[in-house]
Amino acid sequence: MLQRQPRAAALAVLAVIVCTGPPGHGAQQATGSEGAVASRSPQATEVGIGVLRRGGNAIDAAVAMGFALAVTHPSAGNLGGGGFMVIRLANGELVANDHREKAPSKAHRDMFLNDSGEVVDGLSTASHLAVGVPGSVDGLLSVLDRHGTLSRGEVIAPALALARDGFPLPADIAAQFARLRPRFEPYTASLAKFTRADASPLEAGDLFRQPDLAATLARIAEHGRAGFYAGTTADLIVAEMARGGGLVSHRDLAEYRSVWREPVRGSYRGYQIISMPPPSSGGALLIQMLNMLEPHDLATLGRGSPAVVHLMIEAQRRAYADRAEHMGDTDFYDVPLGMLMAKDYARHRFADFDPQTASRSTDIGAGSWPDESAETTHVSAMDRAGNAVAYTTTLNLGYGSKIVVAGAGFLLNNEMDDFSSKPGIPNSFGLVGAEANAIEPGKRMLSSMTPTLVLKDGEPVLATGSPGGSTIITTVLQVVTNVVDHGMGIGQAVAAPRFHHQWQPNQVRYEPGAISADTRMSLERIGHIGFRETPGIGDANSVMRVGGGIIARSDPRNAGAAAAY
Ligand code: DON
Repeated sequence: MLQRQPRAAALAVLAVIVCTGPPGHGAQQATGSEGAVASRSPQATEVGIGVLRRGGNAIDAAVAMGFALAVTHPSAGNLGGGGFMVIRLANGELVANDHREKAPSKAHRDMFLNDSGEVVDGLSTASHLAVGVPGSVDGLLSVLDRHGTLSRGEVIAPALALARDGFPLPADIAAQFARLRPRFEPYTASLAKFTRADASPLEAGDLFRQPDLAATLARIAEHGRAGFYAGTTADLIVAEMARGGGLVSHRDLAEYRSVWREPVRGSYRGYQIISMPPPSSGGALLIQMLNMLEPHDLATLGRGSPAVVHLMIEAQRRAYADRAEHMGDTDFYDVPLGMLMAKDYARHRFADFDPQTASRSTDIGAGSWPDESAETTHVSAMDRAGNAVAYTTTLNLGYGSKIVVAGAGFLLNNEMDDFSSKPGIPNSFGLVGAEANAIEPGKRMLSSMTPTLVLKDGEPVLATGSPGGSTIITTVLQVVTNVVDHGMGIGQAVAAPRFHHQWQPNQVRYEPGAISADTRMSLERIGHIGFRETPGIGDANSVMRVGGGIIARSDPRNAGAAAAY
């Protein structure tokens, strides 16, 4: 059960920031009583806590952080991508904003196949065709409009200043620019943005200024969605598409609208689980896995024990098999969502679970599942009034398509790769799909992003989520079970090493320490195969309410930051 953490000195002192991260990495854990935020970017976290301190609510903070991340965390923060925000409003209402990208109206099912019907390598990830119609700007503005308290200008101002005036480039981002230089080189605007004026590499500590991006942000601040989906910005996007044979048109931009959706809801050992519905598979899979695990006493069996790891792998395997079969954009395909999230269905689906034997999953397409890239990014925020926000946003792979819109200064996504280009053929995350997730004009590609809120008696306890492609959902599963079953505080729950299975390929990926040598041997004895140690799974920046206090935690795997007051 949930462990009560000491309320710390935070309630006596107005602002207490506890730094538990390595020196120079900013505060990774912070405790307060009024409000708290956590993100992958120290500057974005500063923006968020600043908004809260000035009297903005958690929604204002999350929106301001969304714009700031587009400036300070360019691998995933974005204007040219999409995301999902799950919100618990102070009045108890639960809402979700879907600003997932859409397939352009000229897209078609076989657009990534050659004449022989084979998938053309790289077309859905590294070309202008990889770009879906961006959703973030409409989403952030809709959220602000409906549930924020500050003006558009106020929430965009910090991002605009960071883009216009620059900020010292962190070492990890400078290293990414250097590593990806060959990928930026085909695109003049990309190379210009991510190098110095003389095209020499930007170094850590250089002032990183983004004047074109600042101008785009100024247009959005002035004109709202029309500052992006019409006028100069739209012209620049369409001109960029013309340069590389992309499909996003003026009409696609003008017609793009984010959608308000009902969050999916489940329960787990007395807690309410509130998460993202389709076009994300995340919320439904999370609830399905929790339903399969609920009849088993994970706490007594012990975290990391062969019994618990076996149970979790088997739940993950079944849920991901269902994902491949059933999940897609509900606006286009009849997803049996009620069935997938029903406790009875979980019992039925898990009835063949054998504590002594690993189930078989036919392995196809193994090896196409990349190790690196914790791109996509997650923000959590809570305020004193009881608003809680879980927000995950992405360009898909790190730096998306690597294409910067010339003159507009922002990267375009390569989200089209999240569709199933061909039934049964894995995408960049080794995920397979079929009809439900086939490309259709105007359709949203299936996601794994899982921005999640955990409530107790209707009150927010935990806001969490993560990047990591297919591993997002199992990361969130483990943060939730660490807190609910294993009684961990949020610091430990986020830091604890993770593992992941996704049915196909038949592999158990695990971080060092997640599966001990003894546990691995026990699991191999009952038939689990494909163990593969991997450096870092997820980046679960989270906020948790404990007693009268709020604790923010950025994931120690990365150089993010948490802040509270
Ligand atoms: O929506 C999705 O599921 C993916 N586009 C997320 C991509 C991601 O997390 C990249 N990080 N590894």
